[in-house]
Amino acid sequence: MTSTNVKELLKGNLLLQEVTVNGWVKTFRSNRFIALNDGSTINNIQCVVDFESLEEGILKQINTGAALRIIGTLVESQGKGQNVEIQVKEIIVHGGADPETYPIQPKRHSLEFLREKAHLRIRTNTFSAVMRVRSALSFAIHQYFQQNGFYNFHAPIITGSDAEGAGEMFRVTALSDKKPPLTDAGEVDYKEDFFGKETNLTVSGQLEAETYAMALGKVYTFGPTFRAENSNTSRHLAEFWMIEPEMAFYDLDANMDLAEDFIKNVIAYILENCQDDLHFLEKRLLDEEKSKPQTDRSPMPLIEKLKFVTDNSFKRVSYTEAIDILRNSKPNKKKKFQYLIDEWGADLQSEHERFLVEKHFKCPVILFDYPAKIKAFYMRLNEDGKTVRAMDILFPGIGEIVGGSQREERLDVLKEKMAALGIPEEELWWYLDLRKFGSAVHSGFGLGFERLVLFATGMGNIRDVIPFPRTPQNAEF
Ligand code: 4AD
Repeated sequence: MTSTNVKELLKGNLLLQEVTVNGWVKTFRSNRFIALNDGSTINNIQCVVDFESLEEGILKQINTGAALRIIGTLVESQGKGQNVEIQVKEIIVHGGADPETYPIQPKRHSLEFLREKAHLRIRTNTFSAVMRVRSALSFAIHQYFQQNGFYNFHAPIITGSDAEGAGEMFRVTALSDKKPPLTDAGEVDYKEDFFGKETNLTVSGQLEAETYAMALGKVYTFGPTFRAENSNTSRHLAEFWMIEPEMAFYDLDANMDLAEDFIKNVIAYILENCQDDLHFLEKRLLDEEKSKPQTDRSPMPLIEKLKFVTDNSFKRVSYTEAIDILRNSKPNKKKKFQYLIDEWGADLQSEHERFLVEKHFKCPVILFDYPAKIKAFYMRLNEDGKTVRAMDILFPGIGEIVGGSQREERLDVLKEKMAALGIPEEELWWYLDLRKFGSAVHSGFGLGFERLVLFATGMGNIRDVIPFPRTPQNAEF
């Protein structure tokens, strides 16, 4: 059963040879031209059949979505649109697809409709292109870190600590939901639970990654993370993948340098290795944007936008400078922002982040030195006593794509911070130990993988760049 994939066949090296290919019918025109695709590339191979030589039974089964094995000769194409095609000698139908009930027909389906058919949407050009780019990005990320002296660290999925301190966690329990054991106070007694304590799905592998960085030097996680925040937006998932590098002896500047170099590098990788898919996605976006008002269209075609990121420095701006810019901005003065900025200390909303990136600087921006009050407990306090060594990277069309910081390595300062926030030391005794034994300056960041895929593919909704999105009220498939 040896066969050649479509990508290989289209290279034309097997001209005039008998070839076998397996794939799914995209279209079947004039009882003669089958466009076959096997997922190896966005492009189809045209298979030309002499329908008079085909059995009626087989002809009837050649519908969009049917799985076929085709044997024939690879020849130069007579028609336009492709260099080579297959002159078909034999067709074996692996499995048909009833055109009355098969939902993915050769026409434009809305992304909303396709979300309801997430098990089949990968058969469309758009989703296959997005998921090939996703896979390439995943490879490029591992490659980047492995080539730069990082070790891959597998963070636990089940954890007893709340890394971000936001309390938006999914509980993991093996207790009976009908009759859980209760404490004297009438609350569920998690001491009786599987792990003997309350446990949750992780919101971040960072705290555990820090333990490994303080021995291996440079590590990175690339795993699923879970947040039970009720954010029904086009940028939030309840289950998403995060890449979290953590480096000993890195200060915030080195952390920002790494993050910028890393993002540029993985985008350069897809520009080089995913050209067909990116061209398809760029054209798709241009078609989609024709129906939008001029003001909502992206200022650059997709590939130009990606090259812009690889070729230009990210603008680095302190939170304090950013607040000044926002306070004096037109939308703030004209009360166009939903959340008006009037005081230092305000948390930035996505509308503010996007204003800075899309309207003011018109390039990716790294904001640093945020007020301690709006950031997590583990970030290093600056000498001013009110800001922390945090950094967020903001991207056009996306908003925040990276969140990171230099970590508080001073035991006394960390303890004070935890006490002020009511985080019990017993919960994080092992994290405090890192500050007792061989503590050192260290830093890291988290990149939301789906937000990177959103940016790289030009898609508009995060639900369309992960195979089976998990969002409030939605865990189908
Ligand atoms: O800024 P966050 O919350 O940072 C952390 O979790 C740190 N522990 C990271 C670190 O320093 N190691 O999240 C990091 C990134 C965000 O910038 C965003 O890209 C993504 O994770 N993210 C989400 N992506 C999709 N859906 C959500 N609900 C997300 N929440 C965060």
